[in-house]
Amino acid sequence: VPPERNRNFSIIAHVDHGKSTLCDRLLQSCGVIPENAREQFLDGLEVERERGITVKAQTCSMLVRSEKDGLQYLLNLIDTPGHVDFSYEVSRSLHACQGAVLLCDAVQGIQAQTVSTFHQAFEADLEVLCALSKVDLDYAQKEEVKRQMSVLTGVSTDEVLEVSGKTGQGVPSLLEAIIHKVPPPRGKAQAPFKALLFDAYYDSRRGMVLLIAIEDGELRKGSKIHCSYSGRVHVAMDIGLLYPDLCSVDNLRSGQIGFIVVGAKDIRSFRVGETVWQEGGEKSGEPFPGFKPAHPMVYAGIFPEAVSDGEKLETAMQRLLLTDASVEARRDISPVLGSGYRCGFLGLLHLDVFRQRLSREYGVDVLATSPTVPYHLLLANGTQVVVEHAGDFPTPPAMPPKEVEEPLVTATIVLPRELTPGIQQLCIERRGEELSVEPLDNAGERILMKWRLPLAEVITDFFDKLQALSHGFASFDYQPAGYQPVDLVKVGVRLNNEHVDALSFFALRAKAPEVSRKYLEKLEKVIPAQLFDIGIQAVVGGKVVAKVRIKPIRKDVVAQKILSHGHSGDPSRKAKLLERQKEGKKRLREIAKVQVPPEAFVAMVKM
Ligand code: GTP
Repeated sequence: VPPERNRNFSIIAHVDHGKSTLCDRLLQSCGVIPENAREQFLDGLEVERERGITVKAQTCSMLVRSEKDGLQYLLNLIDTPGHVDFSYEVSRSLHACQGAVLLCDAVQGIQAQTVSTFHQAFEADLEVLCALSKVDLDYAQKEEVKRQMSVLTGVSTDEVLEVSGKTGQGVPSLLEAIIHKVPPPRGKAQAPFKALLFDAYYDSRRGMVLLIAIEDGELRKGSKIHCSYSGRVHVAMDIGLLYPDLCSVDNLRSGQIGFIVVGAKDIRSFRVGETVWQEGGEKSGEPFPGFKPAHPMVYAGIFPEAVSDGEKLETAMQRLLLTDASVEARRDISPVLGSGYRCGFLGLLHLDVFRQRLSREYGVDVLATSPTVPYHLLLANGTQVVVEHAGDFPTPPAMPPKEVEEPLVTATIVLPRELTPGIQQLCIERRGEELSVEPLDNAGERILMKWRLPLAEVITDFFDKLQALSHGFASFDYQPAGYQPVDLVKVGVRLNNEHVDALSFFALRAKAPEVSRKYLEKLEKVIPAQLFDIGIQAVVGGKVVAKVRIKPIRKDVVAQKILSHGHSGDPSRKAKLLERQKEGKKRLREIAKVQVPPEAFVAMVKM
């Protein structure tokens, strides 16, 4: 197929709007996968299938003969992941395309990610085709949703296509629209080889697989390539197309989407968005402007649920980190949770998916500590550091930081009009700033709001609150939006005058006393009374802001308890009780001479 008959496109949609089902149907209609393939073909990982969400972008090529001109075209579908946290992956895949199909559920109408993915496609300068999905459903509101799409994108309602991944209705027209509306890639066939790396993964059998969109020139199998980010040279041991399995070819040409297998092991030496040239040849022009590498936005400690699983966790982490370059991890040792990791993720769902993969794919159940965000600290000596763990925050005698900045996000919220006041109230409580409120349809029944919110307020229970307030009728998406100054303090916790760093946390200065009081009350409930007094204090900058005291339990009460439990006088029962008590003791761990059951500690640090 000549380069002018290549088409590179993505399908973008809100979660569950039928993207995977439509992708399967497209591949089936082109004979790439068998008609009876039930599983969603592109959703490779087990977690993805179970949760019904696509995490890793996957890509597939298909040959289609146009009914209109009788010619054969090579369509490259670049599958984009469907969830909030992965919008970074969506945008990186979009840069390998010239067109995007914006899919919207004909029953549900426009949702937050329909809006945010449209904006991403628009900014990437793509030709956007609008399509309604699930039009086979009885309750499809075709005309209404077409009007919404027209208001959002400026495309006229007559141009909005109707498709059903379930029945296959509208699929031929969609293929024709892709062929005749999406422009071919703009590369130069005769120029030296230049390609954009848009995804990479580690395959235990083959090694590193780089997914590339070839802009200019040609690459032959066995040539040497030069990667702009690391400056390293690799041999292209295998090259080919994605059907969607890797399918080797002798050369890759301008306009194609393909893969290169290189003999490297470390995914971290590659960056999505970097440029791949042929080594030795003339370099054609400038490297691609490149994408900003994804920075973790949500941090959490990951510890084995069973302390004896430490080694198993280590092996699993090493393997899993090879498959996901966007996770940051370093070793951490907690006095109570044992040896684990401190990890950075793109968002909460990313953290959750990672945790599930550890459990499903590697059989390690882990505990994740409650998430935090990265703060930028300007220290008294003028240096700038990023701190995401309260334990690392400077405390006396160190000088307090001169300034602290917190990460912000721009939130896109789509909701029915009558829910607007309630959701606005929620955003205000979460220190939000309203940026815009607009109707998404002519009747003004559906509203699109944009808010600027501190990320720390979003990662607690914002999403749950939003769902509860809207009974699931509001949808939400967010993008990183810079930093702002915040009056943040570290609250330290002292147990019997001994500082327990693992229990310290961040709080807004104004709210520190109130938050600390609530925290200590919770601690008071989970630490059992002992034979002596336990004093617990919350401390900010050396000053006590809240305290509680757990009164000692009297010895005779302990004895009384055993007696009363063993009221039947049955000796075996009493023995059992004593045995159980002994077991309980073994599981207790001592912090500051206070016997703290691991569950209590877990209750305090767990998300
Ligand atoms: P993510 O991968 O999580 O983004 O979801 P998705 O957009 O890929 O949605 P998916 O294809 O998994 O479909 C979501 C649900 O809608 C599934 O239960 C599908 O069976 C159903 N569905 C998808 N397409 C159609 C359709 O054309 N008609 C009907 N009736 N149901 C559909």
